[in-house]
Amino acid sequence: MEWTRKQRYRRIEEATKEELNALKEKVNKSIWRQKFHIQPVTGLLNDPNGFSYFNGEYHLFYQWFPLGPVHGLKYWYHTKSKDLVNWQNVGIGIKPNDYFDSHGAYSGSAICHDGKLHLMYTGNTRDENWVRHPYQCLAVMNENGRIEKLQEPVIKEVPKGYTDHYRDPKVWKENDTFYAVIGAQRENKTGCIVLYSSPDLKNWTFEGEVQTKLKEFGFMWECPDYFELDGKGVLIFSPQGLEPKGDEFQNIYQSGYLLGNTLDLKTKVFEHGKFVELDRGFDFYAPQTTIDHKGRRLLVGWMGLPEIEYPTDKDGWAHCLTLPRELTVQNGKLIQCPVKELEALRQDSVNVKDILDDEKKMYEGFNGTTYELICEFTNMEADEVGIEFRSCNDEKTVISYNRKEQKVTLDRTHSGEVPAKEYGTTRTCSVEGDTLKLHLFVDTSSVEIFINDGVEVFTSRIFPRPESKDIRFFARNGKVTLDTTKYNLSTMN
Ligand code: FRU
Repeated sequence: MEWTRKQRYRRIEEATKEELNALKEKVNKSIWRQKFHIQPVTGLLNDPNGFSYFNGEYHLFYQWFPLGPVHGLKYWYHTKSKDLVNWQNVGIGIKPNDYFDSHGAYSGSAICHDGKLHLMYTGNTRDENWVRHPYQCLAVMNENGRIEKLQEPVIKEVPKGYTDHYRDPKVWKENDTFYAVIGAQRENKTGCIVLYSSPDLKNWTFEGEVQTKLKEFGFMWECPDYFELDGKGVLIFSPQGLEPKGDEFQNIYQSGYLLGNTLDLKTKVFEHGKFVELDRGFDFYAPQTTIDHKGRRLLVGWMGLPEIEYPTDKDGWAHCLTLPRELTVQNGKLIQCPVKELEALRQDSVNVKDILDDEKKMYEGFNGTTYELICEFTNMEADEVGIEFRSCNDEKTVISYNRKEQKVTLDRTHSGEVPAKEYGTTRTCSVEGDTLKLHLFVDTSSVEIFINDGVEVFTSRIFPRPESKDIRFFARNGKVTLDTTKYNLSTMN
């Protein structure tokens, strides 16, 4: 179905109860609904927003178009959790119903201040010629969860030298000053990040551009995030317009980070290393981090990409968020691990220790559609080892390791319905070492694979038939020792 502009900018408030119920019913019939990931009740979810710990709970909002699986009028949808595992749907957090956000309450972030959660976001507006004008706005949530918008934007103008692609404020506090980074496009159509400062979150001063070495690196940088971790400065952003290069930049758009010295807030100079992709899978974009009361730096991403059609579109919904990951810095690299709390989802488990010798094997109890699988391959003599999962006679998703090339590959060529085939159906990245640990979280229509305790992550949607449940372990050309545990996972509450 082609969506007209009028349909895409229709407000949920205009829809009747019957219409919304019919939509929900359609969505609930989808065979690809997730069991332990945040997903929209109807319509389309994109970026995680306002990720924070406030008043004893985690809050996680997301970009939401309620009425269909398309990018239309965006609301902030609010979810919260006590444990990062079970998320409660709270309802709409921010409605795009003011002059400064009339065409979408776009992405933004949260910070606690004066006992309240402050949400800074981009109000997207369009004039009668459909020309965009962005405002940076503030909404405040009190301890009872009531959210009120400030009736004036806090940043009204785009400074000279930048286009109207100017959005996604990420705010933090240092000493007594608030800072925000905003994703921007220069007038010469290159992407960058700008920095603002404020004493009170309401009055903002434009400090200028963050000085990186990447002068021409795509046409727009979305969803920037800056934080300090283990003495380093980390700048995350989602650049658009990078050309594929070897195994890198294979998706339509990228998300990655620069690791460096801490950002000099006076000169805005950020000394950094190479841009590194955060995730090696097919579906990952616009991640956001927060720091929690335990001092952990947590990251959640959108398990999807812009401008791509997905098989759930025909069921009236699209996308989900990733599981929360904890970030650390080790050997000059960001390491990402699933948060420990996820162990609460574990139910019964099975374990197998075996030696595979140029063969493919299945084991009792190793099958399913929603599980966690931890698998260690040691004493590797085989040329290639790996796992086929969500498989049956004609479907499979494959994660494999080529020992000679020292590369891990995720192959979704035969995963069932495959989105974005024009961008290829395999993703590969280098992983060093003689042993391999794969840690998979498999949900009804997704997989997140943590390699060697978080040195790389492959995140992907997959759309197999429900009966594709088998797990098969293999070694090609030689032997390998296998030690694997599978946990059935419960549905989140
Ligand atoms: C990233 C993005 C953001 C924007 C939001 C709109 O996916 O394009 O830059 O704020 O989505 O939904």
